[in-house]
Amino acid sequence: MKSKDYVKDIFTHINFLIDYIRVINIRTKIMGIVIGIALLLGTWMSYQTYDTMQTNLREQLLKQGVSTGQYISARSIDLIFTNDTFNLHQLITKVVENNKDVRYVFIRDSQGNIIVNSFGELLPNKLIEANEIQNNAQYNIQPLDTEEGLIYDIAVPIFEGTIGTVRLGMSEAEIKKLLVNTMQTMMLTTILVIFLGILAAYLLTSLLTKPIIQMVETTKAVGKGQFDKKVTLSWFHDEITTLGEAFNEMIENLQKSDQLRSNLLKKIITAQEEERNRIARELHDQTGQSLTSLLIGIKMLEEGKDVEDIAVKAGQLRKLTNDTLEEIRDLALALRPSALDDMGLEAALSRYTHDCSTKLGVKVDFQVFGMQGLYLQSEIRLTVYRVVQEALTNVAKYSQASEASVILECKEDNLIAIIEDNGVGFDVQATLNSADIEKKLGLHGMKERVNLIGGELTIESEPGLGTTIYIHIKLKGLISHEES
Ligand SMILES: Nc1ncnc2c1ncn2[C@@H]1O[C@H](COP(=O)(O)OP(=O)(O)OP(=O)(O)O)[C@@H](O)[C@H]1O
Ligand SMILES: [Mg+2]
Repeated sequence: MKSKDYVKDIFTHINFLIDYIRVINIRTKIMGIVIGIALLLGTWMSYQTYDTMQTNLREQLLKQGVSTGQYISARSIDLIFTNDTFNLHQLITKVVENNKDVRYVFIRDSQGNIIVNSFGELLPNKLIEANEIQNNAQYNIQPLDTEEGLIYDIAVPIFEGTIGTVRLGMSEAEIKKLLVNTMQTMMLTTILVIFLGILAAYLLTSLLTKPIIQMVETTKAVGKGQFDKKVTLSWFHDEITTLGEAFNEMIENLQKSDQLRSNLLKKIITAQEEERNRIARELHDQTGQSLTSLLIGIKMLEEGKDVEDIAVKAGQLRKLTNDTLEEIRDLALALRPSALDDMGLEAALSRYTHDCSTKLGVKVDFQVFGMQGLYLQSEIRLTVYRVVQEALTNVAKYSQASEASVILECKEDNLIAIIEDNGVGFDVQATLNSADIEKKLGLHGMKERVNLIGGELTIESEPGLGTTIYIHIKLKGLISHEES
């Protein structure tokens, strides 16, 4: 039960840490990484240096100790034989004085008695007995744990051990001092690296996060419809500047399409109003007139004298009624082309293009491929019909073309419509980007309509070379068979 609680506790702490790391900002994250790496590298390198230096220096110390011992051993043979204790003492005192690492030197005779020692006082028995040469060895090293720290006691035989032994103690104190100095330098270097790392991270994150923060603020402003906000580009020309440029371009495009949308909306509203006015005018001027004529005609018919006269008048009345009916049909067709619902796109376009030569004054050739048995959804039918209508109106208004053609084709779930004329053509890009955008919305409206049903509309035109408009609509799921 207790260990379960313990595990649960650990998980709670880990979750808390993850939550904390998730919300900290980029600057703190980068700084944390830099400090972490510098600390890790600094500690690891310090440890490696300390370890290698200690091993090497210790080896050197022992080698030096052995060779010093051998030097004393060689020099002391004669002095022992001649019993020259004074010079023997001089010898070991000089060695101790000239070599900081040598803590003590003493010489024992073959019986184990001390002949000379550098302490100048009695030696502790413990030290004397601490080291012995084993089996005619060249030397023997014995580490001793003393109050002064670790001392390596080195025993070197004199004259192969027959007349005595040199003993000297090599202290690690100097090595330790050197190691401490090196470690201090390394720690200072690590601190300096951390400091420089923090400085570099600060500059780097400022460089990175400043434009990001600015972009976030600009995005919020643009989200509220303030399209005049822009990202300030830095003097550098790096990826961040490129991102800023792309961002500003995106805002400009958003602003343009927003303006275009609101213009389209305005245009739709005014167009609706204009259409109502036109219908009212038409009803009043034409249909009203025709009905009045009809009324007068009927009255005259009532007053008709002979059958022949009545028959002539009835014939005129029938023609008048026919014309009125045609007018009303035209009016209804303009409002919602009923042919679209009754007969489908193909028949409606056939009728419209046929009427173009009389109504718009342009001869239009209409061709259909692969549409047999297909009945398109109402939104597609209406879109294609309206786009063809607008395109042909433009042909009539601007192209001065002698001929135009409309091709409607269905190929493997793709509906393609092409409207072409051999007229004067125009600069498409310049027209679409024109500042006169408010008045000319036909082309934009066509594109919008096709885009709304997931299709694509491209306009190809060059001054003097005619104009071609391609509509491409993917029909997957938007097609149904006539029977259904
Ligand atoms: N088939 C064409 N041949 C030559 N110029 C064309 C053709 N279609 C369009 N244009 C040019 O493109 C311009 C923009 O056409 P668009 O349909 O967008 O506007 P509009 O017809 O002037 O006005 P709206 O359609 O909004 O009533 C036209 O003014 C005309 O100069
Ligand atoms: Mg137009």
